[in-house]
Amino acid sequence: MTYRDDIRFILNGREVSARDVGASRTLLDFLRLERRLTGTKEGCAEGDCGACTVLVGRLTEAGLIYAPVNACIRFLASVDGCHVVTVEHVSGPEGALHPVQQAMIDFHGSQCGFCTPGFVMSLYALWMQTPEPTEAQVETALQGNLCRCTGYAPIIRAAVAVSRYGTPAADHLTAEREAMTARLRALRDGRRVVTGPDDNLAILPADVDDLAQCLVETPGATIVAGATDVGLWVTKFLRPIGPAIFTGHLEALKTVAREADHLLIGAGASYTDCQSLLSQHLPHLAPYWDRIAGWQVRNMGTVGGNIANGSPIGDTPPVLIALGAEITLRHGSERRTLPLERFFLDYGKQDRAAGEFVESIRIPLPGASDRNAAYKISKRRDEDISTVAAGLSVTVERGRITRARLAFGGMAATPKRAAQAEAALIGQPWAHATFEAAAEALAEDFSPLSDWRGSAGYRMLSAQNLLRRFFLEQDADTTAPAQLATA
Ligand SMILES: Cc1cc2nc3c(=O)[nH]c(=O)nc-3n(C[C@H](O)[C@H](O)[C@H](O)COP(=O)(O)OP(=O)(O)OC[C@H]3O[C@@H](n4cnc5c(N)ncnc54)[C@H](O)[C@@H]3O)c2cc1C
Ligand code: FES
Ligand code: FES
Repeated sequence: MTYRDDIRFILNGREVSARDVGASRTLLDFLRLERRLTGTKEGCAEGDCGACTVLVGRLTEAGLIYAPVNACIRFLASVDGCHVVTVEHVSGPEGALHPVQQAMIDFHGSQCGFCTPGFVMSLYALWMQTPEPTEAQVETALQGNLCRCTGYAPIIRAAVAVSRYGTPAADHLTAEREAMTARLRALRDGRRVVTGPDDNLAILPADVDDLAQCLVETPGATIVAGATDVGLWVTKFLRPIGPAIFTGHLEALKTVAREADHLLIGAGASYTDCQSLLSQHLPHLAPYWDRIAGWQVRNMGTVGGNIANGSPIGDTPPVLIALGAEITLRHGSERRTLPLERFFLDYGKQDRAAGEFVESIRIPLPGASDRNAAYKISKRRDEDISTVAAGLSVTVERGRITRARLAFGGMAATPKRAAQAEAALIGQPWAHATFEAAAEALAEDFSPLSDWRGSAGYRMLSAQNLLRRFFLEQDADTTAPAQLATA
């Protein structure tokens, strides 16, 4: 096999061929330090503030899709084959301000200006996707952008007004879409990319089979998917990650499909990639999904990465375990499938052998008698990690609970099912007293830790109250809709 040794992409209007790109080289450092594109700012360097927001366009089956991402934790190697758009590329001919920029000025959306390029890029992406957004849509799109001096009201007013200044149809990214698609296609040569110094090697497999092969050859390599965890290992902990095997460009790992009685999610599908299918088939997950990180991180971070990372406070494991999800792991051409809860062995320890990777997640679709909920308790509503997360799923037949799967994050060293609380529900009537008994039993399932997110007592009480809330909400939904409507 012949390898390529450069990272090729289009930066604004120009093709870039970057050689010797170490695995840990960030896109932000490349833009600011090498290209002197200093409009993109560095605020937190950990994906939180959005000052570094750029657009990355990638070719998908649905065509060329642009998404705002955080350049501070995005690795340069991961933009191979992409179109990177920075704030310098937003204005029109001879510096004419873009509709988003003009609206920000007219509505006083900027004071010190440090956050402004990041806001402009997020609003640019929103305007292209949803030209006339509601305030709620603007707020969701701006979850990942922080401003310390203007205040959000003028920025939201600007965002809602952008379409008065111009239409996406007249935007240059729209006008150049076909030509850009052709340019990006021409960059694809189907080869494995190996670049960077020996102690910081970046490897981009040619396809998923090649990924399996790369991991057999280099079983100790760091797998990098969306880099929303790994990026921080580099920027905050200064940890070496090479050799690193990148997977974000592998479209075949991003499958999101309904198959008969289940959903199949490729491990490389980002939160955004699977949002629409999940909302359609598992509507209880729709509001929960919007509370995972902010838009930029949801565009990068993957469900596979959230699982493989093994964090006890990752948001997807509890809700997927409650739904009875299974994961498929692959080593070379060998695959094995296991219930998701069995993947988490202990704190920081998962059932994954060297050279093995998570390939897909299978989520059974609920039956007509199933009741499901997903809850997240965090210190801040938006873009915050969970203190406690819960996935609750029960089957109720003729007024009796015949199946219960209750899974919690933030309550133990791993995401974990509440066996005693489940036992307190199964076989019992769907009734307030049953859920009170289950809430009591939860104390036998967990001995949570105290940390700065919440004390052990707070965590336990929150988890118990989530069970009570589940009963009250579901009961209102299924038995007393008329009463609620008139209350
Ligand atoms: C600002 C910010 C906010 C966040 N908010 C939340 C939040 O609200 N809720 C939440 O749960 N998380 C949150 N996170 C954490 C992070 O976004 C998630 O854990 C994300 O899903 C990780 O996916 P990734 O693709 O970015 O993983 P990466 O960072 O690429 O990788 C994470 C780990 O998984 C491994 N890995 C990745 N893919 C595979 C695979 N296919 N097979 C085997 N191993 C693999 C990597 O080697 C690494 O160990 C946040 C992160 C940031 C920066
Ligand atoms: S610098 Fe704050 S998100 Fe990147
Ligand atoms: S304008 Fe100063 S941080 Fe937003």
